[in-house]
Amino acid sequence: DVIDVRPLTGKGLFTYDPGFVSTAACESQITYIDGDQGILLHRGYPIEQLAEKSDYLEVCYLLLNGELPTPEQNKAFHNTISNHTMVHEQLSQFFKGFRRDAHPMAIMCGVVGALSAFYHDSLDINNAHHREVCAYRLIAKMPTLAAMCYKYSIGQPFMYPRNDRSYADNFLRMMFATPCSDYEVSPVLARAMDRIFTLHADHEQNASTSTVRLAGSSGANPFACIAAGIAALWGPAHGGANEAVLTMLEEIGDESNIPEFIARAKDPEDSFRLMGFGHRVYRNFDPRAKVMKKTCDEVLAELGIENDPLLKIAKRLEQIALEDEYFVKRQLYPNVDFYSGIILKAIGIPTNMFTVIFALSRTIGWISHWNEFHSSPNRIGRPRQLYTGYTQRDYPADR
Ligand code: ACO
Repeated sequence: DVIDVRPLTGKGLFTYDPGFVSTAACESQITYIDGDQGILLHRGYPIEQLAEKSDYLEVCYLLLNGELPTPEQNKAFHNTISNHTMVHEQLSQFFKGFRRDAHPMAIMCGVVGALSAFYHDSLDINNAHHREVCAYRLIAKMPTLAAMCYKYSIGQPFMYPRNDRSYADNFLRMMFATPCSDYEVSPVLARAMDRIFTLHADHEQNASTSTVRLAGSSGANPFACIAAGIAALWGPAHGGANEAVLTMLEEIGDESNIPEFIARAKDPEDSFRLMGFGHRVYRNFDPRAKVMKKTCDEVLAELGIENDPLLKIAKRLEQIALEDEYFVKRQLYPNVDFYSGIILKAIGIPTNMFTVIFALSRTIGWISHWNEFHSSPNRIGRPRQLYTGYTQRDYPADR
C-alpha cells in the first residue's frame, strides 16, 4: 500500500534524490570541485598551489575570510590562534570520565561538544564577532584536544601547547613529548603534517559539512554543531576511511594476496570495498591524493623507510586497480585517504587517531560553512521524504 505523495506535498515540484546526488542544499563561495576534471579550488585557489606554497593557518584564514591575508593580517592571525591553544583546565577532568581504551573519536564527540559548556561568552550566533571568536577557539584548541585524547589513551600526562612553535610542530610535540623528554620535530615531518591538515581543510558539502550546516540551521551553538560534524565524519564511508585503509593494507599483508582482495571488492555478493578508492564527486584522480602520494614519498625518504612493506602493497594495489576493468569502468580512483594513513603511520601516529586528525583538519571547513550560513539570510534545513509506509488505518478495536 504505497500512497500517492502528491496531495501531501502541495502543488510545487517534489524531487526525490537519495544521497543528494544532484540536489544543491545551499549556495556557497568557499570551495569549488569539478569531479570530472579532478579540480579542487578554495576561494578560487587550486589545492595543489595551496599545498605547495601556503600553510594550514593561512588556508584557514583564506577559507574563513575569503582572501589570503596580508603579512600583517597573517601575523595577527597566527598570534590570535596561539593565544587560544589552551583549553580550560576543568576540561581535563572531563577526559577522566572516559575509559582509557575508548575510541578517540568517541571522546572527541564528547569533549568538543562540551566546549559550549566552557565558552559561554561567545555563543551569540547573530553576532559576527562572537562567531569569529568561536572559529578561533576551535581552530586553536582542536590540536590540544586531539593530543589530549592520545595521551589519555596511553596513560601519559597531558602536554601543554607551546605557542612559540608552528601549528603542526606544536601538535606533534603535544603528541610525542613527555614532561621528562622533549620531542624535536623534523621539519620534513612537520611540513607533511601541515600538508595533511591543508589537504583535508574543506571539501564543500560532504556528509559532515552538510551535518554541521543542518545542525547550525536550527540555531545550535557552533561547538555542538562541530561535535555533530565529528560524529558524521567518523563513519568508514567518510573520514573513517583513512583508518580503514591501513587496516585493509595490514590485512592484505603481502603483495601476493592483492588479487584475492581485488576479487572480493568486485564481487557483488561481498560487501568488502577497496578502502581509499572511489569518491561521490571525483570521477578522476582526487587532486589531493596526488599531493599526498608525493608527500608520502618525502616522509618515507626522510625516515629511511622507502621500502615500507605497507607502502609497497599500497602502490601495487593502486597499479592493479587502475588497470582493472571494474575500477576503470566505474571511475574509481584513489582518494585523499589512500596515502594519508601511510604518512601518519610513518610519523608514529596510531591508527585510531587518524580520523581525529581528519576532524582537526576539517574543523576550519566546518566552521567556515557554519559562518557563511549565518552571515547571509537563511532558514532552517528541513529535508522532505518520500513516504512509502502504510496508508491511514484504524487502531484494532479488539486490542
Ligand atoms: N571498492 C569497490 N567497489 C566500489 C568502491 C570501492 N571502494 N567504491 C564504489 N564501488 C562500486 C560500487 O559497488 C558500485 O558498483 P555497482 O555500480 O556495480 O553497484 C559503484 O562503484 C558506485 O558506487 P556507489 O556506492 O554508488 O558510489 P557512492 O558515490 O555512493 O560512494 C564512496 C562513494 C562512499 C566514497 C565509495 O566509493 C566507497 O565506499 N569508497 C570506499 C570508502 C572510502 O574510501 N571513503 C572515503 C571517501 S573520501 C572522504 O570521505 C574523505
